Amino acid sequence: AIDISKLRDQSGYITLDTGFKNTGATTSSITFLDGEQGILKYRGYPIEQLAEKASFIEVAYLLIYGELPTQAQIDDFQYKISHQTLLHEDMKKFFDAFPHNAHPMGQLCSLVSSLSAFSPESLNPNPTKEETNLAVIKLLAKMPTIVSWIYKGSLGAPFIYPQHKLKYVNNFMHMTFGRLTEEVIIDPVVIDALDKLLILHADHEQNCSTSTVRMVGSSGSNLYASVSAGISALWGPLHGGANQAVIEMLERIKNDGGDTEKWINKAKDKDDDFRLMGFGHRVYKNFDPRAKIIKRACDNVLEKLGINDPILEIAKKLEEAALHDPYFVERKLYPNVDFYSGIIYRALGFPTEMFTVLFALGRLPGWISQWLELRDNKEPIGRPRQIYTGETRREYVEISQRG
Ligand code: ACO
Repeated sequence: AIDISKLRDQSGYITLDTGFKNTGATTSSITFLDGEQGILKYRGYPIEQLAEKASFIEVAYLLIYGELPTQAQIDDFQYKISHQTLLHEDMKKFFDAFPHNAHPMGQLCSLVSSLSAFSPESLNPNPTKEETNLAVIKLLAKMPTIVSWIYKGSLGAPFIYPQHKLKYVNNFMHMTFGRLTEEVIIDPVVIDALDKLLILHADHEQNCSTSTVRMVGSSGSNLYASVSAGISALWGPLHGGANQAVIEMLERIKNDGGDTEKWINKAKDKDDDFRLMGFGHRVYKNFDPRAKIIKRACDNVLEKLGINDPILEIAKKLEEAALHDPYFVERKLYPNVDFYSGIIYRALGFPTEMFTVLFALGRLPGWISQWLELRDNKEPIGRPRQIYTGETRREYVEISQRG
């Protein structure tokens, strides 16, 4: 055991809080989250109202600039974004170089980081307001193109170029599901559902990927590099990667005969590493307000598109069983945002490996606003301390005398 009283550092005591369960890293005026009450607000606006009434691009504006836009502001924002959606033609070589089956998240973090190479203004350590805003617009504009082209690349299909006249989510769906050979009309139900999902994912205060963006940004790294690091953090199955892991788990349960009780017991077994993916949250200990909205949206989308997905039944059975099981009740484990999101993405036509990339697309305005806030606050470089538990002092031994 470590005797904390002996761990005095020159500058005082060190607080040890692995996983930062109770440590605040910053002040922020972007997102409010109350895990006990299940409340989530962006800039003071309840998530329920934004999901019902706003568009994703409006929410992006709200997060980044702090206020809901007027019509003139949103038109200007949309105009600026739509004129930055093209990628430098040389970037196509990157897409060509990845194997077709390379995981989309690995490609996404590399491609976003590479944007700095094509935007030298982003490397200015003391950027002007205009330079910073240009980087923000470029990143928002180019990310959907990158994501769509990753998808097209995975199919070996030709890239579909962005269209200025289309709105943000429509343009993304056009590049993703459009074809060179014929016009593809995307069902408005699909556009609405994706818009809602992106809004629900747009920010979530100091989660793992956002803290990563702020940590990297705190050393003065540019926006593209900071967001690329956030994408890497999001990839893990305990964070954004959970949406892919949920569908893989539900498929496994279905193929195993659909016995949900057996899998619930497996999740409770402490000798078994299996966890019920899409359950539990570090902060929400009552319910995840996003999950409530998503569950309704999921039923709605499947009904409107006339899809009968057997894994939805398994998901509902798992949720129902867990709600009454003392193991889950005592530990306050409820479905989180990603429990149902994958079922919707699947219904919209996305393959499982694209799910976490879609999460990243949604989280982008949040990462950007947090990076801007860090800069505006002139926060110091992030540099946590540690409690050293290794050897005290050893004398160097020549290699011939070791072992
Ligand atoms: N299935 C079974 N047991 C679980 C689960 C789960 N999904 N989640 C937590 N537990 C148990 C733990 O085993 C632990 O039990 P114990 O007290 O007997 O040791 C207890 O609940 C507390 O769990 P921790 O891992 O300490 O909680 P923490 O806050 O560190 O982790 C996390 C939260 C990572 C979300 C966790 O619940 C988990 O792994 N869930 C599954 C993955 C997932 O869905 N991630 C997405 C999160 S949402 C997002 O990032 C968008």
